Amino acid sequence: MYQEIDLDQIEVALEPPEKEPEREYYFMAKCRERVRAFAQKNGRFPTACVVNMGCQMNARDSEKLRGILNAIGYMPAESEEADFVLYNTCTVRENANNKVYGRLGKLGHYKKKHPGMMIALCGCMMQEAHVVKRLREQYRFVNLVFGTHNLYKFAELVWRAMTEEDMVIDVWEDAGEIVEDLPLRRKYSFKSGVNIMFGCDNFCSYCIVPYVRGRERSREPRDIIREIERLAKDGVVEVMLLGQNVNSYGKNLAEPMSFAALLREVEKIEGIRRIRFMTSHPKDLSDELIEVMAQSKKICRHMHLPLQSGSSRILKAMNRRYDKEHYLSLVEKLRAAIPDIAITTDIIVGFPGETREDFFETLDVVRRVRFDSAFTFIYSKRSGTPAAEMEHQVPEDEVKENFDVLLKEVQRIGAEKAEELAGRVFPVLIEQQNEQDASLVTGRLSNNSVVHVPGGVSLVGKIVDVRLTECKGFYYLGQIEDENVG
Ligand code: SAH
Ligand code: SF4
Ligand code: F3S
Repeated sequence: MYQEIDLDQIEVALEPPEKEPEREYYFMAKCRERVRAFAQKNGRFPTACVVNMGCQMNARDSEKLRGILNAIGYMPAESEEADFVLYNTCTVRENANNKVYGRLGKLGHYKKKHPGMMIALCGCMMQEAHVVKRLREQYRFVNLVFGTHNLYKFAELVWRAMTEEDMVIDVWEDAGEIVEDLPLRRKYSFKSGVNIMFGCDNFCSYCIVPYVRGRERSREPRDIIREIERLAKDGVVEVMLLGQNVNSYGKNLAEPMSFAALLREVEKIEGIRRIRFMTSHPKDLSDELIEVMAQSKKICRHMHLPLQSGSSRILKAMNRRYDKEHYLSLVEKLRAAIPDIAITTDIIVGFPGETREDFFETLDVVRRVRFDSAFTFIYSKRSGTPAAEMEHQVPEDEVKENFDVLLKEVQRIGAEKAEELAGRVFPVLIEQQNEQDASLVTGRLSNNSVVHVPGGVSLVGKIVDVRLTECKGFYYLGQIEDENVG
C-alpha cells in the first residue's frame, strides 16, 4: 500500500523511469507542477470530482483515482462543477450505460462556459469499442478516455491530457500487471474495501464483466495481508474483501491458496474486528469456507450468494454451473453451520427463453430460502455476450409483470425476516451521521442490516451495542445500550 512519497524529491527534468510504480510517482510530480502553477495564477487549487457509477470494485478503483488526484494537488469536490471531472463507468446493464451519455452532454454544456476544465472517462464501459467510437465522434470535448486495465497509469494519462491538444484515448485489450503501492483516498476512515482478485473467468452467458475486466488474477496473499495490516494501523476496523468470485481466490497463484485459508490469515490481523467479502459464486462455495465462517469471531454473519434464477434449465443456459438443488443445499449447510447468518442474493428476470414455469421455480427458491434481501434485475441484453444471440427474448410486458411479482415477494419476506430481530441487542458499527436527521447516526449489524440510532458524530467508526427498538421493513430504529464496546 501507499507510503507517503515526497514528490518534491523526484527529478522531473530527467526521463521518466520505466519501472512501476516509480514511473507513476514521476508523473504525479510533473502534474503537480502544473497544478501549482494553476494555484499561483488563480489563487486557489483546482478541484476534482470523481463520480463512481459501478460496483464495489469500481468504488475501490475510484478511491485509487482520488488518491492520485489528491497527490497531484487537486482538492476533492462533490459537485461536477469542478476543474477536473472523472466518470468511472459501469456497463453491466444497458441503462447504466445510457445514463452516461446524458450526463456527459450536460457536462459538455458546463465546459463551454469553463473551457479550462478537464473531462475524463474510465471504467468498464470504456472497454467497449463502440463506446470509444461514439465518444471520439460525438463528444470531442472529452480530454481523456482510458480503460480498466491501465488504471494504474492514471498519473501518466493525466499528464498527457494536460499537455496534448487532442483527446487522449488509451484503452488496453488485455490486463496489465498488478501494480501495488499507489496512493489512494478512502471514503471512510474506519472501513475499507480490499481487492483480493481482479477480472472474471466464469463467462455467465448474460454477463459482460469478463469482457471488460479481463481474466481472473489473484493478488499475492502477502500483498493483501500487508495492505490490511497497514489499514488496521491506520484505524480501519472493518475490511471488505473484493472480487467477482472470491470463492475461486488463489487458484492461479504460483503457490495456490484457498479463499478460506486467506480468511484465516486475515482473521489474525490485530485491530481488524469485522471481515466481509463479496461476491461468492455458488459453484465454488466450499465446506472449508463455511467451516471457517462458523468458527470465526470476525467474519460477518452475512453471505451474498447470487442465485440469478431458480430454474435449473435457465441456470444451465446462463452457464452458472449449479442447479436449483445445489443452491438449496448450500443454503441449508450455511444455516446449519451459522444459524444467525443473513443470506442475500441477486436475481435476473427475463433471461432469454425464460417461461412462466421457469419464473415460478425462481419464486419457489425465494420462498424456500427466505432471503434477507435481494437485488432484482430485469435482464439486459449486452452485445458480445452469448445470451444476446439467444432466441426467444422474453416479451417486455411479461418480464415487467414477473419482475413486479418477484419484487413484492422479496420485500414481503425481507420485512418478515427483519421483524424477527426486533427487540434484540446487537453490536453495530456506526458508519455516518444520518443524512436526513442530524440527531441520528446510522450503522450496520454484522448481518449487514442498517439501523438508525440517536447519537453524535463522535460515535462514527465505533462498534456499540444497540437494541433494535423498531423494525421499519428493511431498516431499524434503535437505542444504544452500551457505548464502551470499542
Ligand atoms: N460476480 C458477481 C456479479 C457481478 S454483476 C456474481 O457472479 O455474482 C452484479 C449482478 O448484476 C449479477 O449478479 C447479476 O444479477 C446482474 N447482472 C449481470 N449482468 C446482467 C445483465 N446482462 N442483465 C441484468 N442483470 C445482470
Ligand atoms: Fe459476471 Fe458471472 Fe463473472 Fe459474476 S461470475 S462477474 S455474473 S461472469
Ligand atoms: Fe459494472 Fe464493471 Fe462492476 S461493469 S458491475 S463496474 S465490474
